Amino acid sequence: MKFFVDTADVDEIRDLAATGLVDGVTTNPSLVAKEGRDFFEVLQQICAFVKGPVSAEVTALETDKMIAEGRRLAQIADNIVVKVPMTFDGLKACKTLTGEGTMVNVTLCFSANQALLAAKASATFVSPFVGRLDDIGQDGMELIGEIRMIFDQYDTFDTKILVASIRGPNQVKDAAMLGADVATIPPKVLRSLINHPLTDKGLKLFLDDWQKTGQSILK
Ligand code: G3P
Repeated sequence: MKFFVDTADVDEIRDLAATGLVDGVTTNPSLVAKEGRDFFEVLQQICAFVKGPVSAEVTALETDKMIAEGRRLAQIADNIVVKVPMTFDGLKACKTLTGEGTMVNVTLCFSANQALLAAKASATFVSPFVGRLDDIGQDGMELIGEIRMIFDQYDTFDTKILVASIRGPNQVKDAAMLGADVATIPPKVLRSLINHPLTDKGLKLFLDDWQKTGQSILK
């Protein structure tokens, strides 16, 4: 499963990319607004060191304007993925943009039928928002299982399942167990994946015992 980082914070992305664990980035208008920086400058900086897919979302609601915005965003770098909302205008823009060779991520997906439409619109990625479904008492991971089952029935569907709106490490594990193609993970959650108290405890015990030997590997 590929790991994308879900943020527009360039410094966070650079720091996490240094681990070699970052396969791409997703942004959205809220994440961009949070940084308070120029949208195009942020995207150019991210694409300078992240060579995997970098999602940048259109803000128009009509097909023709979405296509124009998508074409403008795609000019930033070859790895830009144009994000369009799960609307009929968004799906029409998706069909046109993917037909031109531009990668498209259909976002704000909350049902299996929406994901089916994204696949029929030749989306490169579809982003089911699991956290926001959980927030209203529904089961986000159940949706991932449904989409996986549907997509696996048809060889003609190339759309990748990009699990989004992740709130904690268990959703990353569950997404991987269900065979999602990508999880886009907030920096804080990505950093938490490594944590386990028994790892910390075991490492301390190893080093305390090693210190008693008085030896050094590099002396
Ligand atoms: O960026 C898309 C998605 O990950 C947003 O998540 O936390 O705003 O529901 P969230």
